[in-house]
Amino acid sequence: MSTSQASNLSPQSTPGRSITLRVNGESRSVECHDRQLLVEVVRDQLALKGTHVGCMNGDCGACTLELDGQIVKSCLMLAASADGGEVNTVESLGSPDELAPVQEAFWNNDGFQCGFCLPGHLFAARNLIESNDAPSDDEIREAIAGNLCRCTGYQSIVCSIRDAAASARAESPRASV
Ligand code: FES
Ligand code: FES
Repeated sequence: MSTSQASNLSPQSTPGRSITLRVNGESRSVECHDRQLLVEVVRDQLALKGTHVGCMNGDCGACTLELDGQIVKSCLMLAASADGGEVNTVESLGSPDELAPVQEAFWNNDGFQCGFCLPGHLFAARNLIESNDAPSDDEIREAIAGNLCRCTGYQSIVCSIRDAAASARAESPRASV
């Protein structure tokens, strides 16, 4: 589904409420319709386009972000239900000049091609490594099972996450992933 199709799903012309989110460390208030999805608010009102719109039904993981410390598929959540929450999008992870360790691992291992799936894979990788910094390949594949990639064939993603986990183990005390 294209972004323009996604935007047409909700009647954004008639905002129904004001919500406040802490987004990537900053407090942001936005007007949204009661039925507007979190992914739409993040992309359209907050202009954070790194969160992608794919299937809009929870299958692809392109819309993944962090809400109150948990990774969520933001196409499955109403924005209103996140009111007062803390949202971290892929833009919070690093910058082109200073990649987060997990981004660096994906870069070094050709863990993406078009990059559409990348937000979901990065958040899934971080989530896994934070609880298990020596995952087996099977555990990595299980952790990314909710994220679809049309380009890589997945092996380079598994290698990227293995590498990110090795970097995390090498840090003492462990830096953020
Ligand atoms: S767009 Fe949310 S899971 Fe595909
Ligand atoms: S890199 Fe293109 S969809 Fe994964």
